[in-house]
Amino acid sequence: MKITNICCIGAGYVGGPTMAVIAQKCPHIKVTVVDLNEERIARWNDENVDNIPVYEPGLGQIVAHSRGKNLFFSTEVDKAIDEAQIIFISVNTPTKTYGSGKGMAADLKYIELCARQIARVSKNDKIVVEKSTLPVRTAEAIKSILDNTGNGVQFQILSNPEFLAEGTAVEDLLSPDRVLIGGDTSQEGQRAIQSLVDVYANWVPRERILTTNVWSSELSKLTANAFLAQRVSSINAMSELCEKTGANVNEVAKAIGMDSRIGPKFLKASVGFGGSCFQKDILNLVYISKSFGLNEVADYWEQVIIMNDHQKRRFSKNIVSTLYNTIADKKIAFLGWAFKKDTNDTRESAAIYVADDLINEQAKIAVYDPKVDYKQVISDLNYLETRSDDQNKKLVTSYNDVYEACANSHAIAVLTEWDEFKNYDWQKIYDSMQKPAFVFDGRNLLDAQKIKEIGFIYQEIGS
Ligand code: NAD
Ligand code: UGA
Repeated sequence: MKITNICCIGAGYVGGPTMAVIAQKCPHIKVTVVDLNEERIARWNDENVDNIPVYEPGLGQIVAHSRGKNLFFSTEVDKAIDEAQIIFISVNTPTKTYGSGKGMAADLKYIELCARQIARVSKNDKIVVEKSTLPVRTAEAIKSILDNTGNGVQFQILSNPEFLAEGTAVEDLLSPDRVLIGGDTSQEGQRAIQSLVDVYANWVPRERILTTNVWSSELSKLTANAFLAQRVSSINAMSELCEKTGANVNEVAKAIGMDSRIGPKFLKASVGFGGSCFQKDILNLVYISKSFGLNEVADYWEQVIIMNDHQKRRFSKNIVSTLYNTIADKKIAFLGWAFKKDTNDTRESAAIYVADDLINEQAKIAVYDPKVDYKQVISDLNYLETRSDDQNKKLVTSYNDVYEACANSHAIAVLTEWDEFKNYDWQKIYDSMQKPAFVFDGRNLLDAQKIKEIGFIYQEIGS
């Protein structure tokens, strides 16, 4: 089937960038991204591309290139479903906060709503693509809903998980390591797979487009995230041992990374991984494993999360103990709030948990992040429900100017590895601070020697 019309439900961090790249690379395909969130859609349609809701280097230009030509952002979900031959589901699949599986399982209510809506609206055959990250065997549930509530039309379900990382989404989408497409082994299933392969083949070399059965594809996504997060927890576990033994985790990472079997990537010790997916996907994997009675498998992967929680907690504990066991009323400047550089996304950012610990000790937190505003910082803290909105606002401020954020502070904590942090006038910052002036570098970002020469007491992870 020649594809000329695609719709994507969910205009978030995945739906927006993914569809913008498809539209740019496939000018013959009309791509409509729909969302229930009117404000989000309005921002995607903002004339000034600096105001689109997802900050990603290079994304503004790509949106500007196709928007209004073959790329559209809309709240008219039914219309877009009706017109499309392929419907991507790219809605959020957060960890459940209620009922059975609370705190572990993926909440599939948004997925089910999409399936029901697609079934209700569709008047001709459709290919439905799982773009969201889903528990293995979700396609079965989607198929059952579509077949039982639809208008007698044929649906093919494909799994096409997304592997982009935030901050490098455009790069990752333009030249992916691989595109994974899982589908039914029947003839119709294979035809559907081929239709989607043909879309990606407009810019992705064929040998990088991998096709599998649906279940392998669904499970590969969870597996990839589990392996990636496991590397971070592994190096973070070693960072604590380095601190006790005089080894340096950066040197250890370099030494092991040069082994081609291990490889150098994803070995950066840090204050702990964040982001909307690693934790949620591993918890989901743990839940699925337990539901099959695979307790050892579940425990194995759960340890990755336990280690990550420990790494965040020990970072904040170290700040308290180093600052003479009392930080009440002391101003502590946070450099960075996003979960990594080059994104405005703060979901599950380590900064949130470190701040929460320090606020419990009655510290005053002064946040500077180039892409995150005060409203978001407070909303992230309120989400934890540790204390009231008023109490959070009383102890947390944010600044548009880094020098103001650091002035009069007792300590600086580097929580995100934004490049600009390296190039500040650190002497000026030092001069404006209380003494002794401490820097706790949760990203091993700064030039340790230079910082120490200025007079800071500098502590990094794993040395
Ligand atoms: P997001 O929260 O940024 O976006 C999801 C959007 O879906 C929201 O704007 C929401 O309003 C919309 N939505 C929810 N239900 C809807 C409905 N019924 N109809 C229309 N719109 C609806 O989420 P995201 O970060 O883009 O993640 C989406 C999925 O992709 C998740 O399953 C996630 O695990 C996966 N994923 C995310 C990333 C990432 O880097 N963020 C990478 C790979 C995979
Ligand atoms: C991750 C995966 O890398 C993507 O392939 C996947 O598509 C995505 O999750 C998803 O499913 O959502 P993302 O979370 O956007 O992407 O960003 P990462 O670069 O993986 O970083 C995750 C966290 O780990 C960040 O907090 C980062 O700072 C931290 N990290 C990463 C480290 O602490 N050390 C490292 O060496 C690498």
